[in-house]
Amino acid sequence: MRAAVLHEAPGDLVVEDLTIAEPIGREVLIRTKASGLCHSDLHVIEGLLPLPSLPAALGHEASGIVEAVGPDVTAFAPGDHVITCLTQFCGVCPECHVGRVFICSNRHDLARGPELEPTLSLSGTPVLPMAGLGAFAEQMLVHENGVVAVDPAVPFDVAALIGCAVMTGVGSATNGAQIRPGETVAVIGCGGIGLNIVQGCRLAGASRIIAVDLNAEKLEAARGFGATDVVDASTDDPVAAVQVLTGGGVDAAFEAIGLTATGEQALAMIRPGRTAYLVGVPPVTSTMTVPGALMVLQAKGLRGLFMGNSNFKVEMPNLARHYLEGRLELDRLVSAHITLDEVNDGYAELKAGATLRSVIVFD
Ligand SMILES: NC(=O)c1ccc[n+]([C@@H]2O[C@H](COP(=O)([O-])OP(=O)(O)OC[C@H]3O[C@@H](n4cnc5c(N)ncnc54)[C@H](O)[C@@H]3O)[C@@H](O)[C@H]2O)c1
Ligand SMILES: [Zn+2]
Ligand SMILES: [Zn+2]
Repeated sequence: MRAAVLHEAPGDLVVEDLTIAEPIGREVLIRTKASGLCHSDLHVIEGLLPLPSLPAALGHEASGIVEAVGPDVTAFAPGDHVITCLTQFCGVCPECHVGRVFICSNRHDLARGPELEPTLSLSGTPVLPMAGLGAFAEQMLVHENGVVAVDPAVPFDVAALIGCAVMTGVGSATNGAQIRPGETVAVIGCGGIGLNIVQGCRLAGASRIIAVDLNAEKLEAARGFGATDVVDASTDDPVAAVQVLTGGGVDAAFEAIGLTATGEQALAMIRPGRTAYLVGVPPVTSTMTVPGALMVLQAKGLRGLFMGNSNFKVEMPNLARHYLEGRLELDRLVSAHITLDEVNDGYAELKAGATLRSVIVFD
């Protein structure tokens, strides 16, 4: 089966013919139908976010149809429409026990051990499926704790985006920051993740949603997803603009790019006693400066959020229902359908800011 493989980072993806193993134990073999281009893979491609090993099949935002299941799988059957998720969980570690499955400490133990046939291989060489998925591929072999069924009424491209951008964005607002009706928020970066934070805050009843970006088209899109105000950071100082718009700062600010400078802006935008949230992933080697005294004297918080701090088995069916009942705008997130062979061009466009979300569709 064909998959987009990263051999070295930085580097381009190469579409290769890989061997995929048969499902054993609790594994689910999925025929991929759609796979979104998230910026996190671009960080990997650019060498800013290293994977445990290369070569690796990238992609982690996908939907598909179950083709076969291992003998110990009871919750899925061939024909099921499913979404995959990278926050696979063991169910028995201390984090899983207290419901923080999105930071399960045994996630990597769900992968096949070296004594078994590798999940993916290229002419006998093992290929790492990124995040236990490897979703830029015609098929995925995933532990059942990384799979959730979805209502077949949800189109596959939309279902794929629920697999990362939508759950990360909406979940950051509703589960991570737990935005309350009437609160004011700022969202810095209005790509696939930021637009979903915007609409998550709208869903939660925020009274003022200030979208910040350098790109006028992204700001226009943000209005469509629920932003009440926009700030063009290419011409205006975003911190000063947010202070003026709100008379002293917002109740919550989200960084959704992956830059330390905009993380510092998020911290400067909130009122005393409030929290700024880091959702974008900065380069692994970067460090961020926080004003220590102000953090204390103004009782400010700074917090990272991973995959919307959400339990995907609960959250993804909810997000699908919100979409089907008209409360979440997901069709307009899909700005292009592309083929697997166009994946590098798709990432060049994402980098240039020309897309909201490109989705690879498989026949
Ligand atoms: N926390 C998580 O669980 C999680 C999950 C998925 C993705 N991410 C991360 O979220 C980030 C965003 O991902 P995405 O797919 O939405 O990316 P994207 O490229 O679609 O969006 C980034 C946006 O930021 C804007 N931008 C760039 N520099 C800016 C600046 N200085 N000021 C204001 N706006 C600026 C761009 O114009 C673009 O609209 C990435 O770092 C990604 O790795 C985090
Ligand atoms: Zn992602
Ligand atoms: Zn666990």
